[in-house]
Amino acid sequence: MIEKINDLLRRVEEFKPKAAADIEEFRIKVLGKKGELTALMEEFKAVAPEMKRELGQQLNRLKTRALERVNELKAQAARQPENTGSIGDMTRPGSNDAPGTRHPISLVRNEIVSIFSRLGYTVAEGPEIEDDWHVFSALNFPPEHPARDMQDTFFIEKNPDILLRTHTSSIQVRTMEKQQPPIRVICPGRVFRNEAISARAHCIFHQIEGLYIDEHVSFADLKQSILYFAKECFGENARIRLRPSYFPFTEPSAEVDVSCNLCGGKGCNVCKGTGWLEIMGCGMVDPNVLEASGIDSRKYSGFAFGMGVERIAMLKFGVKDLRLYFENDIRFLQQFESVL
Ligand code: DAH
Repeated sequence: MIEKINDLLRRVEEFKPKAAADIEEFRIKVLGKKGELTALMEEFKAVAPEMKRELGQQLNRLKTRALERVNELKAQAARQPENTGSIGDMTRPGSNDAPGTRHPISLVRNEIVSIFSRLGYTVAEGPEIEDDWHVFSALNFPPEHPARDMQDTFFIEKNPDILLRTHTSSIQVRTMEKQQPPIRVICPGRVFRNEAISARAHCIFHQIEGLYIDEHVSFADLKQSILYFAKECFGENARIRLRPSYFPFTEPSAEVDVSCNLCGGKGCNVCKGTGWLEIMGCGMVDPNVLEASGIDSRKYSGFAFGMGVERIAMLKFGVKDLRLYFENDIRFLQQFESVL
């Protein structure tokens, strides 16, 4: 009997399945109800009592080893799919792993950057965690300005003021500190404001800032650059109008409207019957801002503008709720790559 046990043990160790199905067949042959091991157990009953102890141990070892071996082989087979030379079942449903699409905010940001790069602008970036100087003081914000209030700005530390930037105008300052004119930069980035989230406002959104500084830069240059942008972004028929406004960092300042691309300026519910949509703020850089960053305001002048990427995307795509851009519902996000 000891020979039979050893023989079976050797076959268990040496067994090499050719296909996954062979393993199950082997398991039934060895460990099944009518298998070789059961037969040996039967035989064991008739063994002389003095041999029982040793043979019993051998049999148990064989059984454990056979089970182990079958499990090992099964695990191995599961890791390596069989190469049967066939291409498998052609009628199986395909797996749905379509390539991703770019986020609509990235698409619009890239389009805006590309329009200004055709006018010779290069991209500048800056940190999202900023200090008071770059976000407020160097931009001519008076000490009591409401944006410096905790109600409007997320502070990380107050005194010294470290905060999440509320606008990308901070990158203007960083650029002017590093570089003398001529300067022509476009500054995209994420900004943060302490706002209640609604269809029209979010505490995180994206802005694009533009800055052009050289000798003899005039308001006419500003207007023409923005008209070019509006036509490239909203179509050849787009018109613009500038309304006087106020920003601490520009003088004079203006708000820019583009003719409503849905009704062509006749008036509809998107433009609230006015025929115009507000798209950005702009103005001639205040001499105080130039001087604060080390640029000679008697020699140089320039303009700046700033727009919200979500806002431009909403106008281009007719999206009415800002929150959709942040919820990341794939059915929403997938619609835009083919449009732009
Ligand atoms: N920083 C302004 C804001 O967040 C936008 C802006 C307005 C930027 C006028 C400018 C500008 O550069 O000239 O509302």
